Amino acid sequence: MTQTFPSPSPARRRFEGRTAVVTGGAGGIGREVCTAFAAEGASVAVVDVQQAAVDETVASLKEMGTPSRGFVVDVRDASAVEALMAAVHEELGGPHVLVTLAGGSLGTPRDLPDIKPDDVDLVVDVNVKGTFYCCQAAVPYMVEAGGGAIVTTSSIGGRQPSPVTGVPYATSKAAVVGMTKRLAREVGGQGVRVNAIAPGLFLTGRLQGMYDAMPEAERREVLDAIPLDRFPEIREAVDPILFLASDEASYITGVVLDVNGGRFMPL
Ligand SMILES: NC(=O)c1ccc[n+]([C@@H]2O[C@H](COP(=O)([O-])OP(=O)(O)OC[C@H]3O[C@@H](n4cnc5c(N)ncnc54)[C@H](O)[C@@H]3O)[C@@H](O)[C@H]2O)c1
Repeated sequence: MTQTFPSPSPARRRFEGRTAVVTGGAGGIGREVCTAFAAEGASVAVVDVQQAAVDETVASLKEMGTPSRGFVVDVRDASAVEALMAAVHEELGGPHVLVTLAGGSLGTPRDLPDIKPDDVDLVVDVNVKGTFYCCQAAVPYMVEAGGGAIVTTSSIGGRQPSPVTGVPYATSKAAVVGMTKRLAREVGGQGVRVNAIAPGLFLTGRLQGMYDAMPEAERREVLDAIPLDRFPEIREAVDPILFLASDEASYITGVVLDVNGGRFMPL
């Protein structure tokens, strides 16, 4: 197993004076993204459906001295999302950055015969429609602020068939790619960049359980397919997200950044 290198970058403040909205901000990756934005000077709006986890996340951001606010909002509710962006604008300014992490397989079954219509609705509504509502509601504020950056979340499961997740998840995460590119085309002229990150398997709590429950042969198949021959640290999803959200990516829009140790390597 190859050792990972510690992050060599000195403290940077790429988001000073900016406000970042992070949906799924109390989740495994989201919470680390919120913390990283805070460490780089951003004000942070934590959006999630889990009240206790939102409170915990906001408390830890406040301890860092970061202006932050939690919002318990279901991203499937378009009018609640509109009100959320207005409240962020009012209380924290911006938003200048939106990261849409709310989503996942959301506890739905993976295997075809077990999938019910409600499972399909849940996964598509949160991953696809929820992402759309958040982007649509945030864009006018970004335009008003003179520009902004959106980072959506696809998945390796939306880039190639993966044994880990089911068909509705794959469908929804492929749709996020189409949405990202179409939106990037529409709002680029207004100074808003839209890119997607497509993580491979990051063993956040929920997924560690899913991985552990897989038959040994499937687990081996997943690990053997990763050229870097290891699972990633959460930081290794966070850093690329912040890169896409930052001015370092100022001429990058409409791309999907595959962060998977080389497991999906299209030419
Ligand atoms: N962890 C991975 O390996 C991996 C791989 C590829 C893609 N992703 C994607 O990254 C994102 C974050 O994944 P994670 O591992 O942090 O998962 P997670 O389950 O820890 O976090 C997701 C968060 O979204 C919140 N959420 C769910 N439904 C919501 C809704 N309707 N409105 C608002 N918030 C809602 C959940 O409460 C949770 O806190 C997901 O979109 C997931 O599909 C993760």
